[in-house]
Amino acid sequence: MSVSTLSADPINQANKPLRIAVLVSGSGSNLQVLIDAMQAGSLPIEIVGVISNREDAYAITRAQDANIPIAVLSHVAKGKRMGIKTFESHANDQLTVWQPDLIVLAGFMRVLSAGFIDNAPAPMINLHPSLLPVYKGLDTHQRAIQAGERHHGCSIHVVTAELDAGAVLTQALLEVAQKDTADSLQARVQKLEHQLLPWTIMLIAKDILNINQLTTQNNGAKSANLPALPLKLWLNG
Ligand code: GAR
Repeated sequence: MSVSTLSADPINQANKPLRIAVLVSGSGSNLQVLIDAMQAGSLPIEIVGVISNREDAYAITRAQDANIPIAVLSHVAKGKRMGIKTFESHANDQLTVWQPDLIVLAGFMRVLSAGFIDNAPAPMINLHPSLLPVYKGLDTHQRAIQAGERHHGCSIHVVTAELDAGAVLTQALLEVAQKDTADSLQARVQKLEHQLLPWTIMLIAKDILNINQLTTQNNGAKSANLPALPLKLWLNG
């Protein structure tokens, strides 16, 4: 990576920890990896809050155990479905209070509107379980197996209005084994995610990946000031 990839307007001046808000919907194993890294001091982050759109998400317990502020904005509270606009309005209020430098979607399963994404108080990245641009959306492991893919993995990309289509920052990949099922592949890819997410956040915290620049340009790979993206990791999966 060349020196020119280091930016003039760092997101994280004076070595302050990067303030992160995490949006979740499920188990929160990726959130746990970030909590562990924060507590161990191995990642310069402060998780300033967690938003869950499901009241039964185990991620809530993980955040509570770590004394991290949590907002549960359930999409089916008291039997009534919360529309996406209402969810987004509450989420935006909460994020404005927490003032994150970065918003991380880690297993967050609601589709956000262009208005919310464009006006969010910080850049937003998403962890997706495929080697984008292939297999956007759901059932990525099953679809990769059905297509006979030799390689599969996960990606972290900038969130834009188009689903799973923003600039891909990093990817981790593995070889699909003949005996792999959708379940085994999901488990193997999750192991990669648990390495890729902190690794990517480290690159952002250290301003090696300038997320502000990427969000503005919306296609970092075309910029002369940025490394060729995505950065690819071949990990033990
Ligand atoms: C992760 O495997 C992530 O790739 C996937 O949800 C899982 C959440 O796991 N995300 C998506 O499918 C987003 N489209 P976790 O709750 O244990 O971190």
